Amino acid sequence: MQIKLIEAAMQARQASYSPYSGFRVGAALLAKSGEIFTGCNVEIGGHSATCCAERAAIVKAVSQGVREFSAIAIVGGPDTGPIPGCFPCGVCRQALAEFCSDDLVIIVAENTEKWREFTLAEMLPHRFEEAAAE
Ligand code: THU
Repeated sequence: MQIKLIEAAMQARQASYSPYSGFRVGAALLAKSGEIFTGCNVEIGGHSATCCAERAAIVKAVSQGVREFSAIAIVGGPDTGPIPGCFPCGVCRQALAEFCSDDLVIIVAENTEKWREFTLAEMLPHRFEEAAAE
């Protein structure tokens, strides 16, 4: 499943709209149902409205009524050259925490042969929780 998710993230990365940073990111979110929701980063001039790939995938899934997830793969790096592995930003970690439990698997991939796996608890210890998702 890891390789399938990484491939989906690599494919999603191709749609990255990143004219300001030149940093292209793709994400593939695996729902507990088995469905995969993908996203890419979409940059907006001024930057504050930019949406990361991970949140694009989350918003797509939740908009379609899906709220339970088991894993996410992320592939990101500069437009040219090798992909170093892109860790989710703090905002995306909190967005994942809104819908996912501590055991969510986060796959930070360079390619389909090289990746690292973390849990959400490792990436976001002591998560902020105001209200549980329904
Ligand atoms: N970016 C993501 O899509 N995901 C992350 O976790 C980190 C950063 C995007 C935002 C921006 O378009 C570009 O990468 C450079 O920061």
